[in-house]
Amino acid sequence: MRLMALVLALMTTVADLQGQVTKQSFGKTPDGTPVDIYTLKSGALEARIITYGGIIQTLKVPDKSGKVADVVLGFDSIDGYAGGPKPNPPYFGAIIGRYGNRIAGGKFSLSGKTYEVPKVEPTNALHGGVKGFDKVAWKGKEIPHGVELTYVSPDGDQGFPGKLTTVVRYTLEGNDLKIDYSATSDKDTVVNLTNHSYFNLSGQGNGDILKHEVKINASRYTPVDANLIPTGELAPVEGTPFDFRKPTAVGARIDSDDDQIKKGHGYDHNWVLDSEGKKMAEAAEVFDPSSGRVLQVLTDEPGVQFYTGNFLDGTLTGKEGKTYVHRAALCLETQHFPDSPNHPKFPSTELKAGQRYHTITIFRFSSR
Ligand code: GLA
Repeated sequence: MRLMALVLALMTTVADLQGQVTKQSFGKTPDGTPVDIYTLKSGALEARIITYGGIIQTLKVPDKSGKVADVVLGFDSIDGYAGGPKPNPPYFGAIIGRYGNRIAGGKFSLSGKTYEVPKVEPTNALHGGVKGFDKVAWKGKEIPHGVELTYVSPDGDQGFPGKLTTVVRYTLEGNDLKIDYSATSDKDTVVNLTNHSYFNLSGQGNGDILKHEVKINASRYTPVDANLIPTGELAPVEGTPFDFRKPTAVGARIDSDDDQIKKGHGYDHNWVLDSEGKKMAEAAEVFDPSSGRVLQVLTDEPGVQFYTGNFLDGTLTGKEGKTYVHRAALCLETQHFPDSPNHPKFPSTELKAGQRYHTITIFRFSSR
C-alpha cells in the first residue's frame, strides 16, 4: 500500500513538472513598463510567452530524430519588440486586435453609426491600429499548464467603440499549444482576434519555407483588390494556385503568372474554411520534409489568412543574430475574413454589448 502511495506521489510530481510554468522578467519597454516572460513546458515542447503584445517569443519543437529547434521568428530582447521608431513591423508572434487584418478606408458602420479607425497602410486599417493589442502590456497570471493574459481596451481605443475586456489563455499540454481568446464589450463593437506567429519548421532563421508542404482545408478563398481588400467574392480554389486541398509545396506556384498571386506578392489571402467556423476542425497542416516536423492548425474560426512572409527582405535581424530572408516563415492567422465590417455577407464580426466573444485555435506539433 505504502509503495502504491509513493508511486502515485512520484507520478504526480512528474505530471507537475511536465505542466511546469515559470515566470521571469523580460526587461522593460522604453516607457518603463515591466515585461514578464512565462515559460511553458510539455515533454520536449517549450513555449515562451511575453506579457507585451502577448507574443509567442519562443516555440521549441523536436524533429523526427528528437532534435529540438525554435520554430518561430522573433527577437531576443524586449527592444526588438518594443524599441525604435517602428517596433516589430512584421508583428512577430503577437496577439492581433481588436481587428485582425484590414478594414477598407479605415471606416465601417455599426448600428447606424460610422466609425473611423487609423489607417496603418495608405488606404486601410491593419491589425487593430497604430497601437493595437500587439503593442500593449497585458496583465499576466499563471494558470494550470499556461498563462492567462488580460487587457482592458478603453472605449474609443484606436477608434473602436466600447470598453473591451480581452482575456487570452495560452496553455501547452500534450503536443498542443492552445490559444483561448475571449472578450466582452460594454457597447456594440467589432472584434477579430488572432495570433501572428511566423513559423519555419526547419528552425527560425534557417532559410525560407518554400519547400514546406501545406494543406488547407478550404474549397474557396476571398480574392482581393490591389489594396489587399476582399472583393466580396468567395471564389473556388479549384484550378488555381490557391488550391491546397492536397499537400503542396509553398514554392510550387508562389511565383506563378496569376493576378491574385501578383496582388499578394505571393500568398497573402484569406481561405474560407470548409468547416465554416461551425465547429473545431483542422484548418491547415504544414509539413517540413527536411526536419519531419508537422504543424497542424485547428480552429473554430471560419477563415485563415495564409501569409508567406512576402514583406520580409533580409533587413531584420532576429533571435540568435539570424537574418530573416524573403519568405523566411509562414503565418496561418485563424480569423474572420478581412474587412468583414464592410461585407454584410461575410460571417459577422459584430460583438453585441454584454455578449461574450470566444474562439479557440490550437497549434499541434508532431513529426514523421
Ligand atoms: C498579415 C497581412 C499581411 C501583412 C502581415 C504583416 O498577414 O495580411 O499583408 O501585413 O500581416 O506584415
